[in-house]
Amino acid sequence: MLSLALLSLGIASMASPALAAPAPHESAAPGNCSGSSDAPRTLFFSSVNYTGSATFDPAANTLEVASNDTHEEVASWLLLGTNLVYSNHEVGSDVHVKQIGEGNALTEVQAINGSAGLVHFEFNADKTALFGAGFTAGDISIFDVGADGQLSNHRALKTVGAMGPDKVRQLSAHAHQVVRDPTGEFFVVNDLGLDSITVVGKQSADTDYEVLGSVNSTQTGSGPRHGAFFPVGIRQATHYFLVCEMFNIVEIFEVSYPDGVLTLAQTGKTLSTYPTEGEFVLQPPAEGEINGFAAEIFVSHDNAHVYVTNRISGNPTDSIAHFTISGIESEETENEIVTTIGDISLELTDLISTGGVNPRMFSLSRDGNYVYLGNQNKAVNAEDGEGKGLVVFKRDAETGLLEEVASLPYTSITGGSVGVQFVQEF
Ligand SMILES: *[C@@H]1O[C@H](CO)[C@@H](O)[C@H](O)[C@H]1NC(C)=O
Ligand SMILES: *[C@@H]1O[C@H](CO)[C@@H](O)[C@H](O)[C@H]1NC(C)=O
Ligand SMILES: *[C@@H]1O[C@H](CO)[C@@H](O)[C@H](O)[C@H]1NC(C)=O
Ligand SMILES: *[C@@H]1O[C@H](CO)[C@@H](O)[C@H](O)[C@H]1NC(C)=O
Ligand SMILES: *[C@@H]1O[C@H](CO)[C@@H](O)[C@H](O)[C@H]1NC(C)=O
Repeated sequence: MLSLALLSLGIASMASPALAAPAPHESAAPGNCSGSSDAPRTLFFSSVNYTGSATFDPAANTLEVASNDTHEEVASWLLLGTNLVYSNHEVGSDVHVKQIGEGNALTEVQAINGSAGLVHFEFNADKTALFGAGFTAGDISIFDVGADGQLSNHRALKTVGAMGPDKVRQLSAHAHQVVRDPTGEFFVVNDLGLDSITVVGKQSADTDYEVLGSVNSTQTGSGPRHGAFFPVGIRQATHYFLVCEMFNIVEIFEVSYPDGVLTLAQTGKTLSTYPTEGEFVLQPPAEGEINGFAAEIFVSHDNAHVYVTNRISGNPTDSIAHFTISGIESEETENEIVTTIGDISLELTDLISTGGVNPRMFSLSRDGNYVYLGNQNKAVNAEDGEGKGLVVFKRDAETGLLEEVASLPYTSITGGSVGVQFVQEF
């Protein structure tokens, strides 16, 4: 049982009864304070041998490739800076810093080595440090970021935990993601090999980043991959949702800040992203095929919905599992709406086809109204012969339901290469 003391967030004078503040690291399009616009948006996408940009026009629901740079790296993750793109090389250890020029053409300004197999990047709050998850090395890369955005002073921290029971995938530590908490002071690192989450932060302003704690995943052998703090847009988190790719589950953790240090605690709650019974049954894979790899997660800006991608499910196309968050209550008094976060849980609300296979990564638009998704593999037996490569969904503001509004055929974007591994609004 969860014994979380009810937490009154006391959000005054908000229009929506939900926790509708924008996430602190999200901002409206430059020069538009309204935070939502029908103006065309630029997306960056990347994969093996290419990093490109596309334009999505919400007024016309059109999606077009705008640029495409080719390179040798396996660019499975990008971190978008103000005018720079930080790109990984999943099978190496190098980070590539590229200047965004006219027409979104990319020019490399720096290449620097970090840990082996970097698969995810994150900045600290003031963008003076960049963190990378070293999947192959099983550690956390940290770089200083100069005023010009270039990286220096690489150091690494080991993730904490004991190797999981899987004799194929858990033979060593595999740091998979570095997630900044809402205070901006702490980073949690999900490790697939160790079935753990490592907490990183500073003891004081004068010291360097170090490991401050850890927690094990609720289910041993589950393979933690990506996670998301809840609620978004509030200074301190109360919960953390962890996607574990080997068991296709979301585990719910409580977040607290005893003595000012972020601490995670298991709630014991785990939810399947891969239902084998009930309303949203996923066809089990053919015998001998691998059974799903839940991958990416985010929480909607209104803190009412959670979305997770299901990869390689054995179906002709894979899916997004859409959960509704329960356990939040809002009470409207004369001049404020008091929102109380209680016993949080997730309820599977919908499974939406991604139009292809292996949706490794998807992301929310800055305004929270659209979802961008890349399919790394072709659809199996798709009616159009190949399925979709890059897909845009509209998010219903009330229900959180997703509806596909634009896409590009798989081959049109990937040519002979691998499908999109990363996509995000710039
Ligand atoms: C700002 O957003 C509003 C509301 O969506 C839109 O009507 C307007 O065109 C936008 N302005 C700019 C400069 O993008
Ligand atoms: C494509 O990426 C692979 C993996 O990094 C690399 O070995 C190969 O040389 C690249 N091909 C081109 C044409 O750059
Ligand atoms: C990274 O390290 C490898 C192996 O030591 C080396 O060959 C390569 O030049 C280095 N790359 C950069 C960008 O420093
Ligand atoms: C995590 O699990 C490992 C293996 O069972 C155990 O040795 C370790 O003490 C646990 N760590 C925590 C923080 O509970
Ligand atoms: C982008 O470049 C890659 C690698 O050369 C190629 O396979 C792909 O077809 C290109 N995509 C587009 C949309 O031009």
